[in-house]
Amino acid sequence: PLKVAIVGATGAVGAEIIGVLEQRGFPVEGSPTLFGSKGGKSVETKQWGTLTTEAFSVEATKGYDVVFLAASGDFAIKYAREIGKGLSENGVVVDNSSALRYDDDVPLVVPEVNGQLCEGNKVIANPNCTTAIALMALFPLFLAFGLKKVIVSTYQAASGAGAAGMAELKEGIADAVQGDAYLEDDGRFGSKPIANTEFAHPLAFNVIPHIDKFQENGYTKEEMKVTWECRKMLGFPPLPSSSDTGKEPKVSCTAVRIPTLRAHSEAITIETEKPVTVEAARAVLSDFPGLKLSDDVDKNLYPMPITSTGNYDVEVGRIRRNDVFGENGLDFFICGDQLLRGAALNAVLVAEKARS
Ligand code: HSE
Repeated sequence: PLKVAIVGATGAVGAEIIGVLEQRGFPVEGSPTLFGSKGGKSVETKQWGTLTTEAFSVEATKGYDVVFLAASGDFAIKYAREIGKGLSENGVVVDNSSALRYDDDVPLVVPEVNGQLCEGNKVIANPNCTTAIALMALFPLFLAFGLKKVIVSTYQAASGAGAAGMAELKEGIADAVQGDAYLEDDGRFGSKPIANTEFAHPLAFNVIPHIDKFQENGYTKEEMKVTWECRKMLGFPPLPSSSDTGKEPKVSCTAVRIPTLRAHSEAITIETEKPVTVEAARAVLSDFPGLKLSDDVDKNLYPMPITSTGNYDVEVGRIRRNDVFGENGLDFFICGDQLLRGAALNAVLVAEKARS
């Protein structure tokens, strides 16, 4: 059994990590040690009963085998490598923040894509949820047909903003439907606004084309993460630059927050290097572990949050020839549980791979 610690155990991702460890029967020695900002909070678990968080110190993680970080980027910058140094011989820190993702000494890993990088590294970064979910479909297509251009439009759930984001959406919907006549019978918005602090605008009955900070190039940071992380995980330098060789796929993303709770959907268009047919793409996608083909329009079968929520597999469907790129073009739609493949499941799979 392994000594396991979770930093940030009371947040949405921390809670999911506990759930995935339980579901997968991860060999935890005793029970996981939970660190919270102050300590003293109770966390209910199925397998280990009520656990109480401890205040974090690097000292307290010495000798551990697996430390999951579900904390801030600042925390990761300050402590991740230091924790790594004190771990057991094959110990690993899996960081869920974005702070270390572009550092040369920190691999960015989705185990089905580049799990070999788990070996010999003390600190491993989980990709951004949007990228992890997209890569599950993009990687097998990249291997089979090569990728020249990738255009992604996302439909991202409230859980991307954590437990507070999910609560704000649920409260906003309740307020709009039952509260002070915010939503009029004819669908118009009344004068009383829905409260928002987690999102730039109220999310209930809205979509917001703004996730994370705007960059100088007009994209948001969330959108650029898809570019930087796809490049790094496909084996290219993360940042596009004048030394690009032309082999790097060009990636462009529009990231939109929508009022769903915990599954991210993405419409993706690719231009491939080699010609691609729908049948060939389907064959490649259906063989890839962790992907589930959900693609039968005669039965109204396609990926949706309502079917992918709570599941490990990323759904892929609506696979069709893209008429703009012709025989080198493909359109498809994917949906994956943001807290599982996009965070907790991926982190636990990384830990399993690192220790195998
Ligand atoms: N940045 C993502 C989002 C969450 O806001 O949806 C990534 O885990």
